[in-house]
Amino acid sequence: MKEKINSLLEVIEGLTANSKEDVENLRIKYLSKKGEITTLFNDFRSVPNEQKREIGQMLNQLREKAQNKINDLKEAFNQVQSSCDNEDLTRPGDPIALGTRHPLSIVKGQIIEIFSRLGFTVAEGPEVEDDWHVFEALNFPPEHPARDMQDTFFIEKMPDILLRTHTSSVQTRVMTEQKPPIRVLCPGRVYRNEAISYRAHCFFHQVEGLYIDENVSFADLKQALLYFAKEMFGEHTQIRLRPSYFPFTEPSAEMDISCHICGGKGCPFCKNTGWVEILGCGMVDPNVLESCGIDSKKYTGYAFGMGVERITNLKYRVKDLRMFSENDVRFLDQFKESF
Ligand code: PHE
Repeated sequence: MKEKINSLLEVIEGLTANSKEDVENLRIKYLSKKGEITTLFNDFRSVPNEQKREIGQMLNQLREKAQNKINDLKEAFNQVQSSCDNEDLTRPGDPIALGTRHPLSIVKGQIIEIFSRLGFTVAEGPEVEDDWHVFEALNFPPEHPARDMQDTFFIEKMPDILLRTHTSSVQTRVMTEQKPPIRVLCPGRVYRNEAISYRAHCFFHQVEGLYIDENVSFADLKQALLYFAKEMFGEHTQIRLRPSYFPFTEPSAEMDISCHICGGKGCPFCKNTGWVEILGCGMVDPNVLESCGIDSKKYTGYAFGMGVERITNLKYRVKDLRMFSENDVRFLDQFKESF
């Protein structure tokens, strides 16, 4: 009897079923009126009295195990069944909305990628800066209009601390911390106290570049920028440099590219001039090098700075600057294929 119970216990533990019917057959096989376990209970009558207690316990355990096992198997099929009942397995899956990279990030990445081929690396710095890094070290005379309250956000009660108005402040940091040769790009957000409209915002993004070494010339600057323009806007792009003024560069220039919409013939986009402005540049003023502890007799350098929004507008013709910061998915979704 004991042996029979033990071998049945083993069988019960290993039971499996492939369908609800299988489970029912197992129940009949072991637990129905004529089932194997029930039959054992009938045989129990002939067990000698002194063994009744022990064998009785074993039998009860066996029956409980069998019942639990069969319930578990049944439950498993019920679950499968109920999830199948509620689902239409032929329905197409819900589309997962994939995010997109922001157009400004895409274009910033392209600018960095192009200049990295010329050996530029990226440097970053704080958006909350002091006057020295943003203006003083960069040769801004005290009365320069860019320092005026109208352009710059100052931190209240801390006249020396402000939101950077250009990422040239990062160039200041690099020049004071590193020795030439220096070849860095400074991408980042900048702030200016402007009324928000379709063509101006109180913050925007720049990528500025700085190259300092022995014998760096204006020709090097022009060559690097021509390479950039062709890579960014196409092989046929031409550039022209117009004399300009920045406190930190001498000589200074603004760079136009031939209008990539009309190919230079003249259209409403370029206001019939055939040219569109894209950046400011120049040779680093020796005063700036000296303020940052670089020997201006030994080293020269060039710098340039461009607005990422401007370049993005030229590439994608976004007409309203505010769209860049409104996070409207209908706008952002259009840039899906761009990367
Ligand atoms: N820092 C200038 C600006 O914000 C851009 C610039 C950088 C011009 C470097 C010349 C050289 O307008």
